[in-house]
Amino acid sequence: MKKVTIKDLELAGKRLFIRVDFNVPLDGGQVGDDTRIQASLPTIRYALEKGAKVILASHLGRPKGKINPKYSLKPVADRLAKLLGKPVKFANDCVGSEVETQVAGLVDGEVLLLENLRFHEAEENNEEGFSRQLASLCDLYINDAFGTAHRAHASTVGMTQFVAKAGAGFLMEKELEYLGKAVYAPEPPFVVILGGAKVSDKIEVIENLLKSANVLLIGGAMAYTFLKAQGLQIGKSLVENDKLELAKELMSKAKELGVQLILPVDHIVAKNMDTAEGLRETSITDTAEDEAGFDIGSSTIKNYCAEIAKAKTIVWNGPMGIFEKESYAQGTKAVALAVADSKGITVIGGGDSVAAINQAGVANKVSHVSTGGGASLEFLSGIELPGVKALAEAA
Ligand code: 3PG
Repeated sequence: MKKVTIKDLELAGKRLFIRVDFNVPLDGGQVGDDTRIQASLPTIRYALEKGAKVILASHLGRPKGKINPKYSLKPVADRLAKLLGKPVKFANDCVGSEVETQVAGLVDGEVLLLENLRFHEAEENNEEGFSRQLASLCDLYINDAFGTAHRAHASTVGMTQFVAKAGAGFLMEKELEYLGKAVYAPEPPFVVILGGAKVSDKIEVIENLLKSANVLLIGGAMAYTFLKAQGLQIGKSLVENDKLELAKELMSKAKELGVQLILPVDHIVAKNMDTAEGLRETSITDTAEDEAGFDIGSSTIKNYCAEIAKAKTIVWNGPMGIFEKESYAQGTKAVALAVADSKGITVIGGGDSVAAINQAGVANKVSHVSTGGGASLEFLSGIELPGVKALAEAA
């Protein structure tokens, strides 16, 4: 897709608006995890080196159009200043005369972070007046907020119509490059690993990736909907009874397309998840009625790791079990290590699998860890992200 990128723009002396995704977890009024801030540093640093006046804007949480100090971006400004090693000015709003004055006072190479865009309901409603107000703050617009590219909001879509030039930042480019290559031009064998609680969250992803995958490895509670659909007794394991037919359809579609859809052959079961009462490893076909599965077992781990080792392209989304609990973390950890060992292109598709790869301490050994949760799921589903489409249209 044709797109302008930050490298195509003449930045010196220009007011550059960068839409970032600083929707980060806060902990006691401080940034709890700064992965997303770190991921936007290459774009911000580049803009500063080129002598732009940098205006950063983001949402944080879901304040529903109302000012709520709990969702202020001020703690993010403080963390960003530490990471950049230079002061970051902060505006108490994202539009209005006070902000305009602060922008007018910026000198080349300075940074101003605007307050949470979602303190105005016009942001999520993608209102034209608000888009124009945001656009009036700048000469040039860059979208580096891949994590928010699935939202058609004023700062991600609306304002691109009212700026002189709009382009993608380095993070946006990198996300689209890795996810795009995996989905649309994977080098085979292409192995997709999907986990998490529900099939219903991943239906579109499965349908879309069945078109290009060679192997689909399924773990997490969603596996039980497939196993039950095959007529297996799964005890008290989590299942979506209203998705059994769909699971059957997906399995036959995989067969039709020659995709190997592989399910667990053994698992870690317990009578009670919290107390781990009666915890044991057993074959899938030997699950008692009062037991539920919370992790994949060692034979499944072996099978999955063997497929991962053969892969030239891997996409992983969703844990293999309740990895937050030590007793049920083995499967997810083993998959994380196997993905990290792969010599192929390895893409971690956001959300819980990012936490899992971090927990295993191997995030730096994969090709790309997406900063998008919902955005990467939609991308993997083959949906055109509105924020990306807007950039292409602006180009
Ligand atoms: C995310 O964390 O997935 C993005 O920042 C989007 O946030 P949202 O789901 O509140 O729109």
